[in-house]
Amino acid sequence: MVLRNRNRMQKEKEANNESEQEAKMAAIELGHLKKFVLRIPSLYFCSIRLTAACTQSCMQCSIPAQSDGSFIDLQHFETILKKLKQHGSKRITLTGGEPAIHPQLEEIFRLLAKYEFTNTALLTNLYYPEELQDKVIDLVCKYEIGINTSYDGFAGIADKLRGATDVQKIVERGMLKINEARSKCVYSHRPTATAVISQLNMHQIPDVIQRIKALDWNLNIDVYRYSSDNHREQDKMKIKNKDDLLCLLPLIQQAQHLKTPLWYFEGWQKQKQKQCPYMISPTFGSKFFVHENGDIYTCLHESLGNLLHDEIKDIFASDQWKAAKAQFAQCPGCWNTCYTISSRALSYLHLGTIRQYLQKDKTLHRTAEVPQ
Ligand SMILES: C[S@@+](CC[C@H](N)C(=O)[O-])C[C@H]1O[C@@H](n2cnc3c(N)ncnc32)[C@H](O)[C@@H]1O
Ligand code: SF4
Ligand code: SF4
Repeated sequence: MVLRNRNRMQKEKEANNESEQEAKMAAIELGHLKKFVLRIPSLYFCSIRLTAACTQSCMQCSIPAQSDGSFIDLQHFETILKKLKQHGSKRITLTGGEPAIHPQLEEIFRLLAKYEFTNTALLTNLYYPEELQDKVIDLVCKYEIGINTSYDGFAGIADKLRGATDVQKIVERGMLKINEARSKCVYSHRPTATAVISQLNMHQIPDVIQRIKALDWNLNIDVYRYSSDNHREQDKMKIKNKDDLLCLLPLIQQAQHLKTPLWYFEGWQKQKQKQCPYMISPTFGSKFFVHENGDIYTCLHESLGNLLHDEIKDIFASDQWKAAKAQFAQCPGCWNTCYTISSRALSYLHLGTIRQYLQKDKTLHRTAEVPQ
């Protein structure tokens, strides 16, 4: 009798928890609708920087130079996640510097899992000792986190661009280990490799595309830019002749598992029009970046506020947000994968892009070799 009562109480408690959860989710969805009407960002896509410290020193990047050697504090990380979840964030990307060198990576992943975001990813250069690669791979398998790795070129070019030695060898070792986990079906995500095209690696891009295909990874294509405090202006990396870039287009457009939408590449050929996500689709298209001290940024240099001290609703009612909106309106525009591709939903009604995304993922667990 006592046992039956206890079971009944347990079931009632579970049912209450479920309906509480459903009510919370419904409130968040209703909140999205309200934000959409009021044009308030939902922080749908949000990157959290775990540290600015890094294992590489890339020619194009100034993030490691911003590092004071600190890593995000676990409690602070949880406060940030809690606020983002309550506000309606869906996709969280962990970035750096090199996020994998955070000394409490498993606790970070555990917290991420606790808040049940729809989609989570780790942006990592994979350039670290084998033991850390093994640990990172075990953890992304255990917590089902997507992996996105930089892959800009081969041999001396890779070393020069990434300011390190044996980059190709070390990064490919990690990529093959990830493929091993995929072949054993312990990792179900298809990882993504991002190649940043510059004057220095252009000639290697056709082979980079081939190599990513052999690995059976997704491919992101970006172009070197120097538009924010995170970038370093390097004359040697600037593309001298736009036609050389356009020559690569057919190869890129036909690449297997290309993630970057095809319509974006048309902007390279045609006169680029300003497509600012913060203006066109502030609720669902705009991206935000939280630093390890809690400061939150858009594409602009100034922080909007601090997620450890401020409430998100207050940030979007603040003078800083009003000032940022005035800056978005005055900006002459950008055309880059970070911002442009999330700007206009209508752009995706492009036949080539629809076909691109409808392609079936038939080979998700295929083991692929790296060609020598
Ligand atoms: C800042 S990194 C952080 C994650 C990790 N450290 C890595 O490199 O993969 C994220 C991406 O930004 C890219 N990036 C850095 N500086 C850039 C620039 N000036 N232009 C275009 N992409 C850049 C990197 O190559 C990398 O793919
Ligand atoms: S691009 Fe990534 S790997 Fe390179 S220095 Fe910047 S943060 Fe580090
Ligand atoms: S750089 Fe300009 S166009 Fe691009 S996202 Fe920022 S404000 Fe918008």
